[in-house]
Amino acid sequence: MAIPVIDFSKLDGEERAMALAQIANGCEEWGFFQLVNHGISVELLERVKRVTSECYKLEREDKFFKKSAPVKLLKELVEKKSGDKLENIDWEDVFLLSDDNEWPPKTPGFKEIMTEYRAELKKLAEKLMEAMDENLGIPKGYIQKTFNGGDGEKAFFGTKVSHYPPCPHPEMVNGLRAHTDAGGVILLFQDDEVDGLQILKNGEWIDVQPIPNSIVINTGDQIEVLSNGRYKSVWHRVNVIPNGTRRSIASFYNPSYDATIEPATQLIKKENKEVKYPKFVFGDYMSVYTKQKFLPKEPRFKAVRTV
Ligand code: OGA
Ligand code: NI
Repeated sequence: MAIPVIDFSKLDGEERAMALAQIANGCEEWGFFQLVNHGISVELLERVKRVTSECYKLEREDKFFKKSAPVKLLKELVEKKSGDKLENIDWEDVFLLSDDNEWPPKTPGFKEIMTEYRAELKKLAEKLMEAMDENLGIPKGYIQKTFNGGDGEKAFFGTKVSHYPPCPHPEMVNGLRAHTDAGGVILLFQDDEVDGLQILKNGEWIDVQPIPNSIVINTGDQIEVLSNGRYKSVWHRVNVIPNGTRRSIASFYNPSYDATIEPATQLIKKENKEVKYPKFVFGDYMSVYTKQKFLPKEPRFKAVRTV
């Protein structure tokens, strides 16, 4: 079983209806799908691969193996020979990019290339959200406007650059523990060769197959709420291996912290549906999420302060 692969260029041509239907299916049945012909040039993607790998080698790898918490904790656990697994930590090196982050000082071109990449990915996210609006039968721009908390540009667009270094005891620790994503739409540029990302589908973990230069899409908890459960956020995790470093670059289009999120009223009215999720401010959801990220999501919807 493999997650759907969708030719995004078809959205602009005669086969638009088919492309929309494939996106609807990806959102409703899978929560995860891959886009090819998404309009981001291979040349830019090659530069992104090069500069993120260079940055990892130059500025991060050594620190990970010499100083990081997972390396230290795994060593201690191996010495104890208890047979336990490391439960509360991920075998992952991460740094976050936003519009105003500190840039890695020693990697030439990093800031320029990643700024260009992020601008392209943000446009792709917006185009995809418009397709979702259309599929859900809500006004064009509705998701984006909701995440912005009205007109304006307050939505948060972040990029998480991750590396999963080789692990001597992959059975004893997760690359990234199972979770659903908190926010809106996530666009992942994953490693061509080192896989490891899996999603939970009908009770089974299945691999997200690497396709060179594709962009993997998944929807987070806020799209689940806004769509009143039609688009579910899906559990996923990353496994590590003893040889090979996995690179992944996840960009997320999330609501602004002060945006109000609730099931879209037009959707409820039109379909005469029961409202299945609360109405809340995204920042309040995040306070719950940060404490419960690796736990089931349903209690989060119950715990969040409602408005
Ligand atoms: C995440 C995530 C997957 C990956 O950062 O939330 O699921 O492959 N990442 O790194
Ligand atoms: Ni995730």
